[in-house]
Amino acid sequence: MSPFQITRTLPEDATDAALRDDVLRGLTHTPKTLPPKWFYDAHGSELFERITELPEYYPTRAEREILVDRCGEIAAAARARTLVELGSGSSEKTRHLIDALTGLDTYVPVDVSESALTRAGQALIAERPGLNVHALIADFTAGLTLPDTPGPRLLAFLGGTIGNLLPAERAVFLASVRAMLAPGDTVLLGTDLVKDERVLVPAYDDAAGVTAAFNKNVLTVVNRELGADFDAGAFDHVALWNRHDEWIEMRLRSRTAQTVKVPALDLAVDFAAGEELRTEVSAKFREEGVRAELAAAGLELTHWWTDRAARFALSSSTVR
Ligand code: AVJ
Repeated sequence: MSPFQITRTLPEDATDAALRDDVLRGLTHTPKTLPPKWFYDAHGSELFERITELPEYYPTRAEREILVDRCGEIAAAARARTLVELGSGSSEKTRHLIDALTGLDTYVPVDVSESALTRAGQALIAERPGLNVHALIADFTAGLTLPDTPGPRLLAFLGGTIGNLLPAERAVFLASVRAMLAPGDTVLLGTDLVKDERVLVPAYDDAAGVTAAFNKNVLTVVNRELGADFDAGAFDHVALWNRHDEWIEMRLRSRTAQTVKVPALDLAVDFAAGEELRTEVSAKFREEGVRAELAAAGLELTHWWTDRAARFALSSSTVR
């Protein structure tokens, strides 16, 4: 059998239906919102890759530092024969884990992007003979059936992407993760940490304007997919620290009073001058909070690793 397999658990048209649903719900809601998952078309994914290289955007570098420094400890804690990675994207940082997991049999990258999965999967099997790659095209927020591969499993959710979920969504998500696992399996979770606003805000409002372009790209996605007539130039990028909820919010602020048409939904959306559309929440965490959220899902925090500057954390939790 080929060491590379790919399984689609998402119907071809599921993405389109979910986008319509989210846009209809979000643009008719007060205040207006759009979920961040729609940033990541090919252009948005490229912009995100550029964000990870910006001097202001520290999370990717901080997480990579932890993976480089601690992959041996992580591998020893998990002893995994299967590595499942949710939102695997390019699988770039994961290579450190794959190399450290000496008994690894199968890597299961899970992503909505078939092209990213194929590219990353093919590269990996070429680099690591003997490794099986079973990629899943799936939306992991909707619950997931994992392929039947040898245990124990290490399920990694890196990048701080869990922070894009609201607290209630995180609770549902972590409970579904727990339900996928058996005793002896481990969850590895990347979380960005609460820190000074003067560090946080520039990470989401960089001087070169890459994050602003990334934020506005969601309007281009809605234009292309649903025939809308958003003028990206008629909105300003806003990034703010919500100290009460301890999350960064990205918004798009309408520069003028305007009406946007979304023909595929038979919808006309009025924006007042200065009205804001929330496009992302990126929650920042504390150790006690991560411990409590894991515990609420029946998971016990067993390790907590941070980078040397304590900007970002990886936590692991082995199921008992
Ligand atoms: C990839 C979800 C972790 O929230 O920091 C980067 C996305 N948004 N800049 C984050 C993002 C704006 C990023 N995550």
